Amino acid sequence: MMRIIKAKSYQDLSRKAANIISAQVILKPNCVLGLATGSTPLGTYRQLVEWYRKDDIDFSKVTTFNLDEYVGLRPDDPQSYYSYMRQNLFDLTNLRPGSCHVPDGCAVDLAAACRDYDAAISEAGGIDLQLLGIGSNGHIAFNEPGAAFEKDTHIVSLRESTIAANSRFFPDGCVPRQAITMGIRLIMQARKILLIADGPGKRNALHRALYGPISAEIPASILQLHPDLTVICHVKEDD
Ligand code: GLP
Repeated sequence: MMRIIKAKSYQDLSRKAANIISAQVILKPNCVLGLATGSTPLGTYRQLVEWYRKDDIDFSKVTTFNLDEYVGLRPDDPQSYYSYMRQNLFDLTNLRPGSCHVPDGCAVDLAAACRDYDAAISEAGGIDLQLLGIGSNGHIAFNEPGAAFEKDTHIVSLRESTIAANSRFFPDGCVPRQAITMGIRLIMQARKILLIADGPGKRNALHRALYGPISAEIPASILQLHPDLTVICHVKEDD
């Protein structure tokens, strides 16, 4: 089942997404959340932190797994997704550090790191709610156009367009060219998916993902087959 919720603004989108995540944590305090990076979830995390500070949400029993990480960046590198998560959520709430997982882009044996990540997710009981953004080429996590649908955590080479889009976060211009990412099969196994898309730059990709044919050229189009997908979007040109 697919629900599409049109938000009035980025703030409205962020509050609605945070409400859904908050409801998940209230209903199942020891739930497993799948988390995303990028600029879109920032407002959602800001809202969750605000509610945590008001004592409205308790993360003490929650486990998290992030979608992806750049290969070659140490967790303490300011540009790593691990640093992003610490800055925007982990360090600002009572999430227990040992319960927050981000793929290890610096592992000596990357293939083993992928298998360990998959095993940790199954051991935790699978993902209850997966938060997702969408790339302007329709990618989810770092599953670029053409990606196979049947993968779990694996190593990918980034498309030039994704490297260019993400270069805004790398002042020195050295954007990593590879990433470790949850694959589409793993993402599709989440019990619920919450996809958020903001800005006219996402309009075309979102439209093709939700209404176009299911095709590897638009990795997010597979989400049409997910039994419990919620989309919150704010992609109109005029607001
Ligand atoms: C990156 C991330 C994705 C994210 C996408 C869109 O490539 N790996 O998980 O959804 O960018 O990011 P933004 O929200 O900044 O547009």
